[in-house]
Amino acid sequence: HRHLLGIEHLAPSDITAILDLADTYADLNRQSDKHGTALAGLTQINMFFENSTRTQASFELAGMRLGADVMNMSMQTSSVKKGETLIDTAMTLNAMHPDLLVVRHPHSGAVDLLAQKVNCAVLNAGDGRHEHPTQALLDALTIRRAKGRLHRLNIAICGDIAHSRVARSNILLLGKMENRIRLIGPPTLMPAGIADFGVEVYQDMAAGLEGVDVVMMLRLQKERMDGGFIPSEREYYHRYGLDAEKLACAREDAIVMHPGPMNRGVEIDGTLADDINRSVIQDQVEMGVAVRMAAMDLLARNLRNRAAA
Ligand code: CP
Repeated sequence: HRHLLGIEHLAPSDITAILDLADTYADLNRQSDKHGTALAGLTQINMFFENSTRTQASFELAGMRLGADVMNMSMQTSSVKKGETLIDTAMTLNAMHPDLLVVRHPHSGAVDLLAQKVNCAVLNAGDGRHEHPTQALLDALTIRRAKGRLHRLNIAICGDIAHSRVARSNILLLGKMENRIRLIGPPTLMPAGIADFGVEVYQDMAAGLEGVDVVMMLRLQKERMDGGFIPSEREYYHRYGLDAEKLACAREDAIVMHPGPMNRGVEIDGTLADDINRSVIQDQVEMGVAVRMAAMDLLARNLRNRAAA
């Protein structure tokens, strides 16, 4: 593959290859010397048109640990503020010969469009409510390390599915790897036609969580609700917020996940989120660096192979 735009384009063997390499980078990241050379000589530009803590920091660290020259464009102070378009901005940076462009954008499809205009490899760091492929890959690696496998698991994804690119990429990935997926949330936060994706849909947390191996919580994404129905946080927490009582419906060894940023007391109880016997939220963050190192390493190998051909 030339780019990493979505899980949609990956075969199960691609996913396994990225996770296997990421496992080796997870080991490297626990050493005192974390340096590799896979991206030596290459230039990586991070363009985040939307806020980020985890994704931006981990892409930056991943590039630096593998020897790339990494530049973070500050979109808030760029000429986008003077009216320059996304494509003109990308073409301007393209003229500086980057090798890897990491892009987050509020509009679904914007990163795909940009990838058609530039010469370098493009990695989607989240586009609107469309895809967030490296998040699904780091979630998959976290699950595989915690459960010892990434197939035939019962996985519940709970909350605001309709506005979530994380849910969409996870549904695609976990489905490709032959897991059983349950979506739990109010009908107002469930996308139309979602049952066609081979998932089971529940409105009731207790029923949906019954016997699952993995519980993945999502944030209410108010910034994408476009003035539509926004549930009251108190009512939402009562019905859909994960606490020890609701988690008791899942398997005794079920793990709790959240992509972050999390709103404690809205979709998840803070004490449960911090319970290292159940929560793998910090492991997800750790695996984020390893997965992004692996994804950029594999794209860089393709760049070098194409250049040599
Ligand atoms: N999970 C995630 O994408 O977090 P950030 O928005 O902080 O990057």
